[in-house]
Amino acid sequence: MKIAIGCDHGGINLKPVLTDYLTKKCVEFKDFGTFTKDSCDYNDYAEQVAEAVASGEYDYGILICGTGIGMSIAANKVKGIRCAHCHDVFSAKMTRLHNDANVLAMGERVIGPGLMLLIVDAFLNTEFSGDERHVRRVNKIKALEEKNFK
Ligand code: RB5
Repeated sequence: MKIAIGCDHGGINLKPVLTDYLTKKCVEFKDFGTFTKDSCDYNDYAEQVAEAVASGEYDYGILICGTGIGMSIAANKVKGIRCAHCHDVFSAKMTRLHNDANVLAMGERVIGPGLMLLIVDAFLNTEFSGDERHVRRVNKIKALEEKNFK
């Protein structure tokens, strides 16, 4: 499993908790930045991570900003990305089971490190159900992309 990771200055304190955790779990990842506490635009990191996942080079993306909102909005503008903004374990599990989400966005100003790692665990360790109704709904999302994305 290969994970693409990104944050802005609003997520810079949680990101090392995440990367230490993935390292301990022997999960391969690439950190696309940011690497300093200087103010920056979440869009730039969401874009890199989302494109890395959409290209197929990475299985999943994980994005952290202050709220997780800007990151999720931006990531979902990349064709092929289903970014879920989750601050609880149930949603993280269900978005994999039902939506086949491929990017997870969280907010450092909303949750702490312990909950973040439980959310990440649920997201990375849950497979898409593959149930016909969920496949149909995901396919409708893809059709909507085809209609609206150039
Ligand atoms: C940065 O101050 C903050 O706006 C950003 O991290 C994020 O929360 C945006 O949605």
